[in-house]
Amino acid sequence: MPLDLLLAIDPAWSRGDGVTVDPELGAHVAELSSLEAALGVFYVSATEALAAASDLATLRERQLALLGRERGAVTHALAEMPSLSVEDRKRRGRGLNLIKRWLAEAEERRRRALEAAAPSADLIDVTLPGQKPWVGKAHVLAQVRDELLDLFHGLGYSVYTSREVELDRYNFGKLNFAPDHPARDAHDTYFVSDDVVLRTHTSPGWVRAMEERKPPLRLVFPGRVYRAEQIDASHMDQFHQMDGLFVDRNVSMADLKATLNTFARSIYGPKTRTRLIPIYFPFVEPGCQMDAACVVCDGSGAMKTADGTRRCSVCGGGGWIELLGAGMVHPNVLRAVGYDPEEVTGFAFGMGVERIAMVRYGIPEIRRFLENDTRFLGQF
Ligand code: PHE
Repeated sequence: MPLDLLLAIDPAWSRGDGVTVDPELGAHVAELSSLEAALGVFYVSATEALAAASDLATLRERQLALLGRERGAVTHALAEMPSLSVEDRKRRGRGLNLIKRWLAEAEERRRRALEAAAPSADLIDVTLPGQKPWVGKAHVLAQVRDELLDLFHGLGYSVYTSREVELDRYNFGKLNFAPDHPARDAHDTYFVSDDVVLRTHTSPGWVRAMEERKPPLRLVFPGRVYRAEQIDASHMDQFHQMDGLFVDRNVSMADLKATLNTFARSIYGPKTRTRLIPIYFPFVEPGCQMDAACVVCDGSGAMKTADGTRRCSVCGGGGWIELLGAGMVHPNVLRAVGYDPEEVTGFAFGMGVERIAMVRYGIPEIRRFLENDTRFLGQF
């Protein structure tokens, strides 16, 4: 019976690239040819066809055509063995079994080579530019607060942290508010109970610090405060303040003025012009407000536009922006904490942290600070 194995070799199959062809091709062909010439010829073509498969699907197709259990050429040839003479059966049987083993090896060699070369999903292109990891940063209000703390630290102040839920008499009474002062009205103050409020300013911290400690004191009081406000672009019912307090012998209004000027020039620039104007707060006497020449219009109150000038929107045309409240600590407040106003005097000031950030960065909406929108917060 003739060997029709060679019919299994499709003439369209590409020839090997030589790389993964049987490294012992010569010896194998010689051994097969010595058994039956056609076996050697078939083996060369078959092993080259496997070595030439350009992808895994092609390789699988050729492997099935050659060795497949159902339609493999070698399988068929083996199935025909019983019809051979004893002598032919011995030689061809041995040859076919060698071919089966060596082709299986050739298939495996090629498969490994293709798998190693295949681009895999987790392959990394080391030439791509790197991706920066997302790194958080301090909230703009925390940045401003920290800058203020740095500044006052340099002037010898330490931080005093006071409570947000405060007794009415610390928020008001000991700060010399009259019992009928309008700020006590529920319209301005969130009451927790009859005598407990959410602090409406950071000034009650002075009272707590002075009750705990003896003069001299040089402290700042950063923190969150609450007011029952109608919310709009420049009012929130919670915001941040930082008060400062300096109590010692012979502290004067001149010391206050120098301190506030240092603050204003550090925050708004060394050329910042300031003014003090008298204003009433129950807990200071005299009381004042510090204004700075508007940083946007430089005090002129007008902004240049393409078609002439218009009113500056930051200072409202007045040329000045209100920076903070301040004054000499009222003798009644010193007395309320057990200090002797004949012995010591002090000054105090209080500023809004949101306001500083809004003026400095031109932020028109106080609500932005609490919306947690990283598109806004990421700009600072
Ligand atoms: N506590 C005042 C306020 O909230 C600000 C202030 C502080 C005024 C210190 C004078 C002295 O408006």
